[in-house]
Amino acid sequence: MNTSGPVLVYGAPGHTGRFVVDELLHRGLVPVLAGRSADRVAAAGSGDLERRAFGLDDPARLRAALADIAVVVNCAGPFLDTALPLARAAVAAGAHYLDVTAEQQVVRDLYAELDGPARAAGVAVVPAMAFYGGLADLLVTAVLADETRADEVDVAIGLDRWWPTAGTRATGARNTFARQVVRGGRLVPLPDPAPTGTWDFPPPLGEQPVVQLPFSEVITIHRHLDVGELRSHLNTAPLDDLHDTSTPPPAATDEHGRSAQRFVVDVVVRRGADRARAVAAGRDIYAVTAPIVVEGAARLLDGRHRGAGAVAPGTAFDARDVLASLERGVEGLAIGYPVGDQRMR
Ligand SMILES: NC(=O)c1ccc[n+]([C@@H]2O[C@H](COP(=O)([O-])OP(=O)(O)OC[C@H]3O[C@@H](n4cnc5c(N)ncnc54)[C@H](OP(=O)(O)O)[C@@H]3O)[C@@H](O)[C@H]2O)c1
Repeated sequence: MNTSGPVLVYGAPGHTGRFVVDELLHRGLVPVLAGRSADRVAAAGSGDLERRAFGLDDPARLRAALADIAVVVNCAGPFLDTALPLARAAVAAGAHYLDVTAEQQVVRDLYAELDGPARAAGVAVVPAMAFYGGLADLLVTAVLADETRADEVDVAIGLDRWWPTAGTRATGARNTFARQVVRGGRLVPLPDPAPTGTWDFPPPLGEQPVVQLPFSEVITIHRHLDVGELRSHLNTAPLDDLHDTSTPPPAATDEHGRSAQRFVVDVVVRRGADRARAVAAGRDIYAVTAPIVVEGAARLLDGRHRGAGAVAPGTAFDARDVLASLERGVEGLAIGYPVGDQRMR
């Protein structure tokens, strides 16, 4: 296993990939910019950074491209097209693998195929280390503290707007798998039509109409926590933006390149008579994905991770420590455990 090599960012020319490269540089880590198009990789980033252009259809070439790499961060989606070949190659080359997928089937496939090979290679495969997926997984893990069992978990995501990237639109079109929820402790298809309701979000959103729309957090949470019922809700206003083909991609409105989009992730966990809650609020779901996945890369490099295998964020890392680190490092990100609701111990 490589322990000191650089961090290869595949999909570095993309919107999220650019945030990830900036975050790696900001933290003093060494990025290698990679992607399928030599022209776009050459134009990505600035300064004297190493660049590698390669597609994902030649396993031998892929392994060679990753030979000296310690951590692969996959930002190229739809991940249904990229995750398995890149993660396979990373494991074969002795590199850790992280991605930012929101697609449930991708996480299922990676867990099913690569847990054994990753354990044998002594590396970690951690998909969905991102706003959708990892953030909720870390919040639920932090709320449960040392416990692994809950009767019910609700993950409610509120966005004031959604300016989708081309990658988000392509991923939505590509992902035709039935979405999964957890009921009776098992993964089952989301009811059709998806249940709707209202959710009383913390400020600035307040009460909002929501629809159940599960992302990769369902698969990661189910991987390591014994949850009876797991529901994921999204407010409906940003879905109107997403469904409107004229909604533009995100535009930078601050010195960090972030859009003006605001998010709240509200996680409520119930076990018996105990109820506990965690809330994360911040700005720009694409931008905040970079510190989340780079926090993972940094911990895989410096040894602050638990073992090997294809695992959930809350298994690979100390969830409370990761969240505290993110809150310290990301301007405007607030993570709290609201008064009256206690973490379970
Ligand atoms: N879970 C989350 O919270 C979260 C957060 C952010 C992003 N994402 C996901 O991350 C993905 C990228 O988003 P984005 O905003 O960065 O989109 P983007 O700006 O459109 O960039 C997409 C990138 O993926 C590359 N790519 C797409 N298909 C590929 C393939 N088959 N082989 C190799 N490279 C491929 C593109 O390469 P080219 O430049 O050569 O076209 C480009 O670099 C999307 O799936 C999005 O949903 C998830």
